[in-house]
Amino acid sequence: MSNIKFYQGENLPLEMHKVSIVQKLNLIPVEDRVKAIQEAGSNTFLLRNRDVFLDMLTDSGVNAMSDRQLAAMMVADDSYAGSETYYRLESKIKEIFGKDFFLPAHQGRACENIISQVFIKPGSVIPMNYHFTTTKSHITVNGGRVEEVFMDEALNIKSNHPFKGNIDIDKLVALIEEVGADNIPFIRMEAGTNLIGGQPFSLENMRQVRKVCDEYGTMLVLDASLLQDNLYFIKVREESCRDMSIREITREISDLSDIIYFSARKLGAARGGGICTSRPELADSMREMVPLYEGFLTYGGMSVREMEAISVGLEETMDMNVIDQGPQFIAHMVKELEQRGIPVVTPPGGLGCHVDAMEFVDHIPQEQYPAGALTAAIYIAGGIRGMERGTMSEQRDEDGNETLSNMELVRLALPRRVFTLSQVQYAVDRISWLYENRRLIEGLTFVEEPKVLRFFFGRLAPVSDWQIKLAQKFREDFGDSL
Ligand code: F0G
Repeated sequence: MSNIKFYQGENLPLEMHKVSIVQKLNLIPVEDRVKAIQEAGSNTFLLRNRDVFLDMLTDSGVNAMSDRQLAAMMVADDSYAGSETYYRLESKIKEIFGKDFFLPAHQGRACENIISQVFIKPGSVIPMNYHFTTTKSHITVNGGRVEEVFMDEALNIKSNHPFKGNIDIDKLVALIEEVGADNIPFIRMEAGTNLIGGQPFSLENMRQVRKVCDEYGTMLVLDASLLQDNLYFIKVREESCRDMSIREITREISDLSDIIYFSARKLGAARGGGICTSRPELADSMREMVPLYEGFLTYGGMSVREMEAISVGLEETMDMNVIDQGPQFIAHMVKELEQRGIPVVTPPGGLGCHVDAMEFVDHIPQEQYPAGALTAAIYIAGGIRGMERGTMSEQRDEDGNETLSNMELVRLALPRRVFTLSQVQYAVDRISWLYENRRLIEGLTFVEEPKVLRFFFGRLAPVSDWQIKLAQKFREDFGDSL
């Protein structure tokens, strides 16, 4: 395809940008990495940045910003009410999504708070392709229940299905018939389905979901936080969309949705978020929550500089030369890991590369958090900070029982336009070393376990001294090297 750029016989992705501001990195010795991870309760969220070499925790709020975004930040119009910056963002939203109303919020979960408080009642059921952690928490806090109606293929780690984020229409209809449309305030579709490996849905699937919404008189809410990657995949993987522009695909996705919300820490490559709709009655019902929880209606908790950056970032999202970098780097990393026999989620998705801990450390029982243990081990092996996306990221059920996750993944996020190919290669090499020594990795157990979103602050301990032994093996194999 003309707009996919590779060199060396199509082996290496080619960046269509140059780097003009850099940040120096620090790689501390392996013994210090063990100390740091133990002080962090074996939870990479609790590491300090100074102890991290490659920060692959998330793509949230850490994508590289463009020169044009930075320039726009300098002309931000700072005022409590009526800021021109807000009107610029509102009109960019209208131009791209065709939505008349924009409610600003400080980040994605703030949008989830507003939508959940307004539309969810005790007993509500929310069907979706897959849950996201903060989404599920807001739905359950308001007395609702998440029902996932993903296609069976979604949980197949090794797959060549191009759209594992699709909703299974038969399952969706059966669920609506079972619980009754009256109990379903909305159906939620998540672009670039985060927890199953950044997997996209197809435009065709979304059209079918819309039909079901119309038949049963329920709304379609799109979580567009990871829309950027999903747009890329629709363009390159969906045969019937080859001739559509990114702008046209975006517009159709928007037209199919009653409400779109997004984390601008991802979509728009800045920080913030917002809710868009064209239905005045929906905007009215949510509007008063903005000053209550976020800030005045023309900033919603965001700095005006970030809002300027979002306007430009959204415009740049319409450019294939901008949005192809993330998925292409991820595809490269997935290919390199696969070639070394390391179990990873396929096909490659957006957001990052997802290592399958269930297979990588198949000797660790799920109750001892294999993905959490592997995440800690990857930090020890290379100073690389990934994120656990498995049982640790679940919440216990009402009776306090552990909810074992469908998948045990370690997410190695590739924030957009941040890492070089040699840094990706370094990560691949260290993970390969770890794979050869995987039997040294053992489980974790909670020592401090918060009730809500425990993965953020929870502290764990290794079940033995395996982390020290792993560092000793590293020293034997790598000599004086860091
Ligand atoms: N929805 C999706 C699909 C997300 O990936 C996120 C955040 C949110 C909502 C919440 O947005 O962080 O701005 O409040 N994902 C981050 C991540 C945390 O690391 O994947 P937020």
